[in-house]
Order: sequence, then C-alpha cells, then structure tokens
Amino acid sequence: MTQRIIIDTDPGIDDAMAILFAFRSPELEVMGLTSIFGNVSAELGARNALTLCQLAGTQVTVAQGATAPLGMPPRPHSDYVHGTDGFGNIDWPQAEGVIDPRSAAEYIVESVNAYPGEVTLIPLGPLTNLALALDLDPSIASKVKEVVLMGGAVHETGNVSPVAEANIINDPHAADRVFGADWPVTMIGLDVTHQVLLKTAVMERIEAANPVQGGFLNQAAQHYFDFYRGALGVDGCYFHDAATIAYVLDPSLFGCRHGRIRVATEGLALGQTMMAPEGREFPTDGWADRPLIKVAFEVDDVRVLRLFEQRLSEAL
Ligand code: BDR
Ligand code: CA
Repeated sequence: MTQRIIIDTDPGIDDAMAILFAFRSPELEVMGLTSIFGNVSAELGARNALTLCQLAGTQVTVAQGATAPLGMPPRPHSDYVHGTDGFGNIDWPQAEGVIDPRSAAEYIVESVNAYPGEVTLIPLGPLTNLALALDLDPSIASKVKEVVLMGGAVHETGNVSPVAEANIINDPHAADRVFGADWPVTMIGLDVTHQVLLKTAVMERIEAANPVQGGFLNQAAQHYFDFYRGALGVDGCYFHDAATIAYVLDPSLFGCRHGRIRVATEGLALGQTMMAPEGREFPTDGWADRPLIKVAFEVDDVRVLRLFEQRLSEAL
C-alpha cells in the first residue's frame, strides 16, 4: 500500500529536490502540497509548487499557507540562498494552475480527518501551518500517521545563528507548539543533513539521465552550490529537505534517539532546539511534560544519496 503524504513547503531549491523525489517514488502518494513563507513568500511558494507539479507531470492539491510567523515579525526571505524566485534565479516559466481556496491549515485538517491514521505530514519550512492546523482541530494530533520534519539542530552548529536552523528560527513559537503536541514527530535536522553532501557531479549525472526534471534541478542548484561554495567551501550542497523523503521511504537509513524538545522563543538563542534525552531527569522546568519525539543523529549518507540518484534518474 502506498503511504499518503502532504508536503508543507517553501520551495526553495532543496524543497524542489524533495518534492520531485517524492513524486518519483511509487511507494508514496503525494496528496497535496501546502505552501509556507520562508525561502520565498507563501504566495510564490504556492506558485512554485504548481510549477513542480507541472514538471512532475501530475496535478495534486496546492493550498497556500501562512504568510508570517505566529509570534514575531517575519525575517527576510533567504533569497541569497535560493534566489528571489526560489529556484536560483533561473527565470523558469511559471505553471498555470489553480490554488485551492482552502488555507493550508484547513486543507491539512480536512485531509487528516478524511484518512485517520494514514497521512504523514512532511514539513520542509517553518512550522506555522502545522501549528495553525493544531489550533483549528487539536484532534488531528491523534490521527496523523507521523510528522517527519526538516528542521532544528541539537548537537550540530546552526545555519542561521550558531544555535538555530533556518526553518525553526523563522517561526520558533510554532515550532515549540509542534514539538509540544502529542503526535509522533521525527526531526530530521542539521545533525544528519550536514552529514550528507550532494555533490555537483551527482546532479550532473541526474541531468544527463533525466534532462527535463534533472535539468531543472541542476540549473536551479547552481545558485545553491555557489552559496555553499562561498559560505562553507564545499563542492555541492547539504541534503536538507530531501532527507525527509529518504527517511519516509526507508527509516533504516537513519539512526534516531528519543528526546523532549523545547525551542527558544526569545533572546540570543532564538530558534535553538534544546533536547532533554530520554531517561535523563533535570531539576529544571520546561521539558518534563513534553512528549518524546524521535531525533535523527546518524545517517547512511552513501545509501541516501544512492536512493536519491536512482529515483531521480530512472525511467518511469
Ligand atoms: C532548511 O532551510 C531552508 O532554506 C531549506 O529549504 C531547508 O528547508 C535548511 O536549514
Ligand atoms: Ca525548505
């Protein structure tokens, strides 16, 4: 049986990699894409999602989500990483298509209620839409199959501040709400995504094998590669959003530990994901009443990259 998934996304170059990876995986049924501000605005995110559907040769529900975080003013979009178009400034023609009249949160609530126990939510941006969905209908917490999110950093250095990862710092209040809800969350954060380097040569091979989708991704990725080359001196990019899809396809690629997560919602540590490991007790308030979630710390980078390359390259 295929797994039903909803991808909540701010596309975004690595979001595009994740979404095409998912569309090309027969084990997954992508029910819909919901947009969120982050790499781009929520409006542009929804239009980019339509473009990705067109590239994948399919049409699923695309719903627009929140335009700003819950408890603070929005931070600027990260166009220096993803380009002002979210796709590396490649001037790709925007697809026609209809954006669903429901908000992302409404769409998530309706979909989870329609298929209780079956839907996996995969947020690849700030967690605002998920927090709003929980507010709209708290019962969805007991009805989702799993929430597999890209975000956070426990032991690894952050990528927006020394302690904060981009998706979490963009809405720390929403993230604290999502980590505090009683639903099965798996966090795929920088602790693992910084162990997987997608090299430029792999994207070239994918383009050669799959000129349309691979060509789009490789063109878009050039901006991303430039950013990583300049910022960190690496030949490629870290494998953030697409790592969630690899996890959903094959959790054995990752090693996880359980812990309780709080998110710093103010001060210098804004956006830090702070984990109390399972079994440890602290004479400090704040964590004890939090649910245990799964946090990925180990990853088989070779197998993850092989799976991504295979899925993006094979003839369908
Ligand atoms: C995350 O931040 C965004 O810029 C990427 O798309 C990814 O979701 C990595 O920190
Ligand atoms: Ca993203």
